[in-house]
Parts: sequence; structure tokens; C-alpha cells
Amino acid sequence: MNVKETVLKQLAASEGEYISGAALARNMNISRNAVWKVVKSLEKEGFSIEAVTSKGYRISEDNNKLSEDIIKAVEKSDRDIIVLDEVDSTNDYAKKLAARGAKNGTAVIADRQTAGKGRMGRNFVSPPGCGVYISIIIRPKFGIETSPLITSAAACAAANAIEMLCKENVGIKWVNDLYMNDKKICGILTEASMGLEMRSLDYAVIGIGINVGKNDEFDSELRRRASSIEECTGKKIDRNRLCAEILRLIDIYLENPESREYLEEYRKREILTGHEITAQTGGTSIRGIAEGIDDNANLIVRLADGSKIHLGSGEATLCRPVNNS
Ligand code: BTN
Repeated sequence: MNVKETVLKQLAASEGEYISGAALARNMNISRNAVWKVVKSLEKEGFSIEAVTSKGYRISEDNNKLSEDIIKAVEKSDRDIIVLDEVDSTNDYAKKLAARGAKNGTAVIADRQTAGKGRMGRNFVSPPGCGVYISIIIRPKFGIETSPLITSAAACAAANAIEMLCKENVGIKWVNDLYMNDKKICGILTEASMGLEMRSLDYAVIGIGINVGKNDEFDSELRRRASSIEECTGKKIDRNRLCAEILRLIDIYLENPESREYLEEYRKREILTGHEITAQTGGTSIRGIAEGIDDNANLIVRLADGSKIHLGSGEATLCRPVNNS
């Protein structure tokens, strides 16, 4: 690890407390002047660091530069993390890494995506500086029959991480869209690769896109349906902390999805349940009342004739917006 990485890690590990130049210098066996030079060079790279006489240095609360060193220090992990300024899609990048043997838990994070992918072949608008675009490689220990549970467990992990940081309720719209104040703030795209015997998953890539800060790239149609954490709460969220929290919770939620313990939380968060919905599934459109989530994370829909269907995939929308006020 070079000096810059070590300084960043120490500053991040201090969790907002100042560390004196003398302590940093001592820990790394370099001069205080050398520490100062490293801090200046980190600032040039875009990190926002406060220096206060007689206190020392700390990462500013408003630092908005993503860094694998900060994320690892906050998560207290040593997982493989790749942070990129720009990439076409973190999911595509992660799939290439996974095919080359990247470890379980490897994360790819970008400040900007030029071809961010959404579900159903849509694009995911991913401007720089205001989102978290993260893809996590998992090499599941569980069987292929458990794979439908991956996305819903990941949705709970992401909802929890966001709530932890902004203290505002996060809902889940089946399958995996996260909502705040009736607007979508996060989408999840999971892509999987089958093992050779087709009975196991070789790997899955869980791609999570979160609108964190205000952005000007949403057109008026998108603005009607989507928002960002900052616009909903008025709070500026530290993207490095959010990444660290997501990674910590993904590990926990995906440890044993077969237990289905997380489904109770998923059901509490799910926002379609109890409402009239339309759903697109397998090329057809249906209308009915969403009655809940079954044990395989399918949406149960009661149709007009009283019969029930369990939807495993597709897209559902409320016929009328829910008024929370
Ligand atoms: C959706 O809302 O339809 C899913 C959006 C998923 C977006 C994330 S951003 C990180 C990862 N990389 C991608 O290209 N897509 C996912």
C-alpha cells in the first residue's frame, strides 16, 4: 500500500475525528512535511480534507470523491473493490471480472456510467457525482432454486443501508425498486451465470443504482416517477459510507437467503400489497389486487374472477398513486 492510500485509510478509519499530522507521520514513519504533501496531492485528486491547526486532518463531511480505501476503512473489510471514474456499466465490468475468476464479494463502483443498464432492456441514467452505481459479484453457496431470492434479499439490504444513513423510510416496489415519498430512488439489476451442470449458479452480479444527490439529467418524464435521496430528505449523503453499508449488509442478507428470514422485512416494506395494480408478465398485461408476497418472493395477485396468480418476474405498477399524506 502506498503512502497516499495509507493516509486515506487512516483518515477514514478515524470516523470524523481529527488525526494530528504528528500522529500520521509517526504511524507511517515519514516527516510531517511529507504528510502535508500527501494531503495536498489527495486534494488535487478531488478529495476534500480539512486541516485545522492544533487538531490535524480529517476527511470533510462534504467529501464527494469515491475511494476504495475509504470504503474499505469504513466497512472494516479487505474485500476487492474497484472504483472507476467512468465505465459503460459496472454490471458488465463485474461480469468480465467474474468470468476471469474474481472472488466472492468483489465490488465494482463507478462515479459515472455511460451505458447504465436497467431491467427490461431500459437504460439507467447515471450522471457523475450524484449516484451510487455498484455491482457486487457473489458466488452463491446455495442451489439454483434459491436464485429468485437473491434480488429481493439485496433490495432489503440496500433499503436498510439507505435508511441507516438518511433516517427516512424506504419502501420496496416488487420486485426490486426502492421508493421514498412515492418516487423511485433506486433500482436493482441482477445478472447470473449458470454453472456447467446447470444446477448451480456459477456467479451472480447484483447491480444497484441509487440516486443520491440532485441531478439535472432526468427528463421531465423521469422526474415524475423518480427522485433522489437528497431531494426527498434534504440531506447530503456520504457516497463512500453508503457503499460501505451496502456491502456490509449484502454479506449479511445473502449469507443464507434460503432461510427466508428477510422475507418478513420485505413484506413490511413492499408498497403494492393491498392495492390495485397492473402487471406486465410474459408479454401479457393483467389487472388485479396485489395480495402479498409468497415464500418465493413472488407477487400474489387476485384477479377479477377471484382466482390468484403468483408472479415470479415482470413489472407491476399501481393503478392509482398511494396518497401518504
Ligand atoms: C432498474 O431500475 O431497472 C435497475 C437499475 C439497475 C442500475 C444499476 S447501476 C449499477 C449496475 N450497473 C448497471 O449497468 N446497472 C446496475
